[in-house]
Amino acid sequence: MPHFRRKRGCKISDNLEKLMPSRRQILSLLAAGPMLAPISAYSTAPAQRLLSPPCADEDDLTPSQTEGPYFTPNSPEKQDFTSDAPGGERITLAGYVLRQDCRPVTKALVELWHCDENGNYDNDGYKLRGHQFSDAEGRWWFNTVVPGLYPGRTRHFHVKVQRPGARILTTQLYFPREPGNVVDSIFHEALVLDVTSGGGGGKFGRFDFVVQ
Ligand SMILES: [Fe+2]
Repeated sequence: MPHFRRKRGCKISDNLEKLMPSRRQILSLLAAGPMLAPISAYSTAPAQRLLSPPCADEDDLTPSQTEGPYFTPNSPEKQDFTSDAPGGERITLAGYVLRQDCRPVTKALVELWHCDENGNYDNDGYKLRGHQFSDAEGRWWFNTVVPGLYPGRTRHFHVKVQRPGARILTTQLYFPREPGNVVDSIFHEALVLDVTSGGGGGKFGRFDFVVQ
C-alpha cells in the first residue's frame, strides 16, 4: 500500500503497515458519511500483528518546531473538528506515535490546532482545537479541514505529542507540493504529510510521530 508508506522517518514493518486502512477502505467509509471512518477501518485489523513489530531501525526523532502565537491551553478532548469549519475542505489526519525502535506508544497525548479555511485562528474559543490519546496500538486520528493561508506562513497544522511521562514534542505538519513551503523559513521537509485523496472530495494525510 504505497499510499500509506512514509517517504521519510520511521520505516514501519510490513506487518504494522498492513494495519493502516487501505485507500479503498478510506474511500468507501468516508463516502458512507460517518467521520469515524478511519478508526472503524483500524478496528478491523488483527491486533496480534502488533505484538512483535520487527522494525530494528533507529529512526530520527520527529523534529520540534515553534509553538507559534496561537496556542490555547486546556483544549477539549476532541477528534472531529469538521463542525468547527463546515465550509472547509475535509481532511483526515492519522498515523502512529512510535518510539525510535518503532514500538507503538499507547496513551500518548496528541493535540492539534490550526486556522480555518480562511487563515483565521479561533483565539477566543476552541474551534479547530482539540486533543486525544493514542489507542492501544499507538494510532491517532483527527477529522478536520485543510487550513487556509495567512501572511508569512505556508499551509500548516500545529501539534503537540507527549508520551506518558515524557517531554512534550511541539511541532508542525506541512503539505507536499505547497508553493509556500520554499519561502517559509520554518518549513521542514521531515514534517510533510503523506497526502492522498479521501472520500467525498476530502483528503487523507498520514504522519507518524517518532518520540523519545
Ligand atoms: Fe500557525
